[in-house]
Amino acid sequence: PEGERTQDLLSRMTLEEKVGQMMQLEGRKELLPDLILRRHVGSILHTSPDDLPAALTMAVQETRLGIPLIVGDDCIHGYSFWPGATIFPSQLGMATSWDPERVRQAARVTAEEVSATGVHWTFSPVLCISRDTRWGRVDETFGEDPLLIGDLASAMVKGYQGGAKAGEPLPEDAIMACAKHFAGYSETQGGRDASEADLSHRKLMSWFLPPFERVAKEGCGSFMLGYEAIDGTPVTLNHWLLDEVLRGQWGYRGMLVTDWDNVGRTVWEQHIEPDYTHAAADAVKAGNDLMMTTPQFYEGALEAVRSGILEEDQLDQAVGRILAVKFRLGLFENPRLPDRERIRTTIGSQEHKRTNLELTRESVVLLRNDGSLPLKAGIVPRQEEGVHRLAVVGPLADDAQSQLGDWSGASGQVPWMRQGQPREMIVTVRDGLTSLLPEGWQVDYARGADIITMVDDPAGPTFHDGQPRPKIAQSAPTDQDQLDQAVQTARRSDAVIAVVGDLVQLTGEGRSTATLELMGGQADLIRALVDVCSQEDKPLCLVLMSSKPLVLPAEADLANALIWAPSPGMEGGRAIAEIILGLTEPSGRLPISMPRHVGQLPVYYNQVRGQHGNRYADLTQDPAFVFGQGLSYTTFEYGCPTIEGGPGPFTHDQVIHASIPLTNTGDRPGVEVVQAYVRDLVTSVTWADRELKAYKRVSLEPGQTAQVELDIPISACSIVDSSAHRVVEDGEFDLLIGHSSNEDDLQAVRFSVTGARSV
Ligand code: IFM
Repeated sequence: PEGERTQDLLSRMTLEEKVGQMMQLEGRKELLPDLILRRHVGSILHTSPDDLPAALTMAVQETRLGIPLIVGDDCIHGYSFWPGATIFPSQLGMATSWDPERVRQAARVTAEEVSATGVHWTFSPVLCISRDTRWGRVDETFGEDPLLIGDLASAMVKGYQGGAKAGEPLPEDAIMACAKHFAGYSETQGGRDASEADLSHRKLMSWFLPPFERVAKEGCGSFMLGYEAIDGTPVTLNHWLLDEVLRGQWGYRGMLVTDWDNVGRTVWEQHIEPDYTHAAADAVKAGNDLMMTTPQFYEGALEAVRSGILEEDQLDQAVGRILAVKFRLGLFENPRLPDRERIRTTIGSQEHKRTNLELTRESVVLLRNDGSLPLKAGIVPRQEEGVHRLAVVGPLADDAQSQLGDWSGASGQVPWMRQGQPREMIVTVRDGLTSLLPEGWQVDYARGADIITMVDDPAGPTFHDGQPRPKIAQSAPTDQDQLDQAVQTARRSDAVIAVVGDLVQLTGEGRSTATLELMGGQADLIRALVDVCSQEDKPLCLVLMSSKPLVLPAEADLANALIWAPSPGMEGGRAIAEIILGLTEPSGRLPISMPRHVGQLPVYYNQVRGQHGNRYADLTQDPAFVFGQGLSYTTFEYGCPTIEGGPGPFTHDQVIHASIPLTNTGDRPGVEVVQAYVRDLVTSVTWADRELKAYKRVSLEPGQTAQVELDIPISACSIVDSSAHRVVEDGEFDLLIGHSSNEDDLQAVRFSVTGARSV
């Protein structure tokens, strides 16, 4: 019936109305009546809550056919632009939990909050693979592994869409998801955002496409295209990727939206289209449906049809898919205006806060600990007045807006929300420790260092065409007064927590960084604190609160403990404090490798097997911390893994049931993330040495042993061969189970496969 309604509507639309439906524009107040009434715009984004109700009503009540608008926004880790909404850790922070169910719950909360506001659609999740972490958008990804990315993205889509399967209507408290950026956008050059991607079809198919294929088949309502070109063709014009692979091979029936002015950029930036008429025609022919913020698409597409370079039929297909999405959301029956009562009861509710805290606890990764953590309440006070003093220092220790990361109120993407989220909703590390420390403890805070100053680009204030060059972030000089104060604070204390990291100016779209080193006075601060703490024999815990893995100064190795909290959101400070004080067991694991030097990039665990020269003469090839790494306060011991029914041979349609005994050998309860990797011993093309195929979070009490069961479909042990076919090849494989992707942490059991086949 939806198909019939779409056809009926299409048959009644003028050419202008059809082209208008394909336009997505910024819902700016002064433009809205013209957009909606004259140009029949189909979708708006980044619309202020004050302007939204009138826009939604105008489209339904004042246009000839009353076609509702679909309203999109970047609700990436919560509805960041809504004051008081629940802001979760960034996607990278969510990924450190390795917990799809918690990620699903976070997306559900976001959907409940966003759907109350009149926004129907979020541009999330991001399924890009982060390999070169200079890229500014690492924070928005789930890290470097295709399986983990696919699992978490699938969970997020389910959360947003209320579990609706492909084609099913979305419940009223659901929002439509958008898998982005399709595909290969993260494979940058030098980490620079939106640069040409150096990707073969085979490489795309091997690692970059599988997460997208999964959510396409599970019914993710929309896909957004990347900015980049692959092998000379911008993704927006890539007929092979959009039409043959996504729609053809995967049978995808959802809607495709370009990224910001992708169609216009083919004219004015990439210079591969002579004018907007040709750009519009080629974008439609390649398979795009909705054109984000290319106002010239309207005249361009009309002219393309009138001059015969584009068939109206081709437009009809795109418009049909946009209408189908509006039917799927039920917008014709209910255009979903903001609901004041739901806004009041849902947004930022106590229940949502709890869901956020539970996820954030799992998103904190303990990377090093000599036993100083959890901080012992029994440390004898050094001070005469008899109170314990905890020094909490560093520029991120009490910077509420920065800990939210990108796509947060203060990150500046929308004009109506520059002030940031309400301070009282955000728990910084200083707040968290102050409220959780037991009686007799006192927090002494000092900022200790600045991070950046914004300066003019040394190349000059304008580009050759007269456009202003953006300012660049320069490392701030060490401020001796701030440093001295932090050192004095540390001297007076019994233990020191230093929170360092980066800022929103160093992360996000168009904000890649050339370096990964801690900026400003932070390295000097760490060195000074290491000196004080080692001279005075007091524990120093470093907390890296950053949008991506950063490189710490060598002296950081002398700190007693190191924690990583990637953009941890509103509850970040509380979760970190709970872990420091031992009120919560640390259980986060790295979803991305942490390099020890920017020159190692790209550094990721599932690199293709190389030859003897594939190394540096002046630096180890190993990252500082490997994919999958993360400590607990207890210890775990793995037994020998076994495979049910022995080593095979298995056929491509079977599933391996593996199990391994795991014992908590320490004196605290704890959570281990058991990880299973597969190594194909001989492959017809060079391939990754090991790839993650299964994982499980397991909670154990002290002394408890569990038999951990993991299922691995043989079809998942595939490679992409030299003719770009995904196949499972005959031969022997190692199943490697253990604590991290590091060979030393894994126990192997061999199995074999016969009856090779395409999958
Ligand atoms: O959704 C984003 C996308 O990820 C990057 N460019 C702008 C879009 C809309 O804000």
